[in-house]
Amino acid sequence: MKNFDVLVAGELNVDLIFNRLSSLPSLGKEILAGEMTFTLGSSSAIFACNLSTLGASVAFAGKIGNDTFGRQLLHDLQQRNVDTRFITATAAAGTGISVALNDGQERAMITYPGAMNTFTAADVSDEMLRTARHLHVSSVFLQPGLAPGLATLFQRAKMQGLTTSLDPQWDPAEKWQLELPALLPYVDVFLPNIAELRAFTGETSVEACVQALSYHPGILAVKHGEAGAYIWDGYTLFHQPPFLHNEIADCIGAGDSFNAGFISRYLLGGNITQCAAFAALAGAVNTTAPGGITAFDTIDTFRAIASQKFNYQQPWT
Ligand SMILES: Nc1ncnc2c1ncn2[C@@H]1O[C@H](COP(=O)(O)OP(=O)(O)OP(=O)(O)O)[C@@H](O)[C@H]1O
Ligand SMILES: [Mg+2]
Repeated sequence: MKNFDVLVAGELNVDLIFNRLSSLPSLGKEILAGEMTFTLGSSSAIFACNLSTLGASVAFAGKIGNDTFGRQLLHDLQQRNVDTRFITATAAAGTGISVALNDGQERAMITYPGAMNTFTAADVSDEMLRTARHLHVSSVFLQPGLAPGLATLFQRAKMQGLTTSLDPQWDPAEKWQLELPALLPYVDVFLPNIAELRAFTGETSVEACVQALSYHPGILAVKHGEAGAYIWDGYTLFHQPPFLHNEIADCIGAGDSFNAGFISRYLLGGNITQCAAFAALAGAVNTTAPGGITAFDTIDTFRAIASQKFNYQQPWT
């Protein structure tokens, strides 16, 4: 008997977002912000919260500092019914934080990875893996402690009978040093966006990218923003159209919500077209409210947006 549908092993940070600045900051001066948001950040945490709202039971494994930000993250995850028993606090570093300064179209960001850097594959025991049916990992390049042991972690998950998914996310260093041939054989659902896939393969067309990853036996779901997504199930490649609308709040977390929609249907045994369509719906719903988790506050919030804004009439389970 499994305790959880999904174990998310990954990075945790808070986001501090300043809007309506009097100007961008410069050394030796002080500026004022007209608006401030303090919220749960990180791709893995947004995925975990939204997947939980969509009905899966989710546990999180990760590292925080022994501080107020860390306790806030535990509180936010628990509010969304994400189980935090596998999150540990380290004295070695503070909880990760990203500070964003938005000034019109311009944005300046500072990220302190802190405790995220100390999380390794060895922190995810076989015992933890056995509590879940599925393992999800995101943001490989923001987790230098986790990356070297990633292939072994996914291999262990497969040996324990779990299904698996991976969203690599962007590499800020743009080096793309990840041993995909050693890793992807253990990944059932690979979820990059188009820019990440091109960077990994050096190819341009989706067809050529798929060819380049021929050693990957699983599903490839390639996100392409407003252009929708491309899905390869090992046999055919098809385009998943987006649910377009003209009330975009922002696109923060759209990719993570797409992942949550896809995996929620995958876990229910949905076929590939059902998984892809629900993923696109979840990505679009995400963009109707600010930040990554607001539109998924409750399942009723999500359903109301899906049916009212996108006329989504399919059964929910
Ligand atoms: N403006 C939009 N309108 C409708 N749907 C959208 C929009 N933007 C994104 N989506 C949906 O969400 C999915 C994922 O978005 P996107 O391609 O931006 O992911 P990403 O690049 O991984 O983003 P992230 O920055 O969250 O990692 C898209 O494939 C699409 O289905
Ligand atoms: Mg992404």
